[in-house]
Amino acid sequence: MKFFIDTANISEIKYWNDMGLVDGVTTNPSLIAKEQQSFKSIIRDICAIVDGPVSVEATSENTDGILAEAREFSTWSDNIVVKVPFIKEGVKALPILRDEEIMTNTTLIFSVSQALIAMKAGTTFLSPFIGRLDDIGHYGMEIISDIATIKNNYNIDAEVIVASIRHPLHVLESARLGADVATIPAAILEKMFKHPLTDKGLDSFLNDWKSVKQ
Ligand code: G3P
Repeated sequence: MKFFIDTANISEIKYWNDMGLVDGVTTNPSLIAKEQQSFKSIIRDICAIVDGPVSVEATSENTDGILAEAREFSTWSDNIVVKVPFIKEGVKALPILRDEEIMTNTTLIFSVSQALIAMKAGTTFLSPFIGRLDDIGHYGMEIISDIATIKNNYNIDAEVIVASIRHPLHVLESARLGADVATIPAAILEKMFKHPLTDKGLDSFLNDWKSVKQ
């Protein structure tokens, strides 16, 4: 499973990319708003660091506006993926962008039927939001399993990005279900490293090592 990092923070991206764990980046308007730089310069900096797809969200609510944004973003770097919101006007843009060889990531997917429509319309990636479903009492992971079944039934090329990840179990469950990608916030990657027995074991090895004659 590929690991994307769900942030627009350059330090976080550099840190995890240097560790070899970043296969791509996803941003959204809320993540961009947390940073101090201008939108275009953040995205260009991210694209220069990461050797993989970088998702940038269109904020227009009509097809022409989404297409114009997508065409503009795609001139910024070769690895740009345009995030298109799952609205009718966005879905209409998907086959046009596919024909223009502009990669897309259909976002704000909350149901299997939305996922099926996005795949049918030719999206390159799709982002079901798991954590936000859990937040309202729906088991988010269930839609990942159903989407994976549909993908396999028809050999669909679109890659599923499990998004809105809130804890390490979301990542593990995504891998268990065979998701193509998990987009992981830096804080969750940090948690995935932690185990008290690793810390305890290392302390004890290092203490014992002090008594070894060199
Ligand atoms: O990138 C979109 C998605 O991951 C948002 O996550 O935590 O705002 O629901 P969250």
